[in-house]
Amino acid sequence: MSGTMRVKVLGQHELCKGIFKLELACPFAKEIRAGQFVNLYMDDGTHLLPRPISVCDVDAGAQTVTLVYRVVGFGTDYFSGLGERFAEEIRIFGPLGNGFPAEELLGERVMLVGGGLGIPPMLYLAKTLRAEGAEVQAVLGYRDEEFLLDDFQQTGAPVYTASDTGSIGTKGTVIDAIRQNGLDCGVICACGPMPMLRALKEYALEQKVRLYVSLEERMACGIGACLACVCESAGVDGHSFVHNKRVCKDGPVFNAGEVVL
Ligand code: FES
Repeated sequence: MSGTMRVKVLGQHELCKGIFKLELACPFAKEIRAGQFVNLYMDDGTHLLPRPISVCDVDAGAQTVTLVYRVVGFGTDYFSGLGERFAEEIRIFGPLGNGFPAEELLGERVMLVGGGLGIPPMLYLAKTLRAEGAEVQAVLGYRDEEFLLDDFQQTGAPVYTASDTGSIGTKGTVIDAIRQNGLDCGVICACGPMPMLRALKEYALEQKVRLYVSLEERMACGIGACLACVCESAGVDGHSFVHNKRVCKDGPVFNAGEVVL
C-alpha cells in the first residue's frame, strides 16, 4: 500500500441522477485488485475523515483509476465538483481492503451480481476475470435508471438485468433475473444492498454454490477509526475473542459463510 498522495483529476461526469464517474491519475494503479477501495480526502480543512470509494475500473498501463459513487452527503457532494468548482487535484490513499480472490475463481463458472452502487466494483472484477479467460456472467440490479451497462457488455460476458420498475430487464430482483433466465454457476461474487446479499446467501445455500460478498455498503471512514463498519462474524476474532469483523480492515470481501448478514 502506498501513502496518501495528491493526484490529478482527469475527468468526471454524471452517469445518471446523482451517480458520478470520476477518473483520477493513480500511481499505484497496478497494485489494485478488483474489490478493493481507495480513500478520498477533502481539502477544505473541515472534514478530516476520508470517504472510502470502491474501485470501478483500473488502467494499469495508463496509471489511472475510475471511481463511481453516489452523492449522499457533504463529502460526495464536494467530490462531485472536482474538476469544475474546486481543485484539479485530490488526496487519495490506497489501495485498501482485501478485494475478491480472483485467482481462486479462474477455472470456475463465475456469476457476478451487483445491485445499485454495488455494480461498479464488479466491473473491474469482470474485466480481470475475462482477461484470464474465465467464464463469467453478470447480473445487475437497478432501481429505474441504468449505468455502466455498456461497459459490462463490452467485456464480452453475458449480462442480465433486473429493475424495480421492469424498465431494465426483469421486473424484480437479481434473484428473479437469475431464475427467469435459468442461470447457473459454480461460484457467485456479489456486492450491493444487504437485502440482496441476504437473498443471495439463501440462494447460494439452496444451489450449493460458493458465495463471496463485498460488504462495502457498511463502511464509513475506511481506516479503522470509527468502528461503524463492524459486522457479526461466524467465527471468533483471534485478538478480541468476539464475533466481530471490521469490514474496512478484514474485508470488504468475505466468504458468505464467515459473516452474519
Ligand atoms: Fe470506520 Fe471501518 S469504516 S472503522
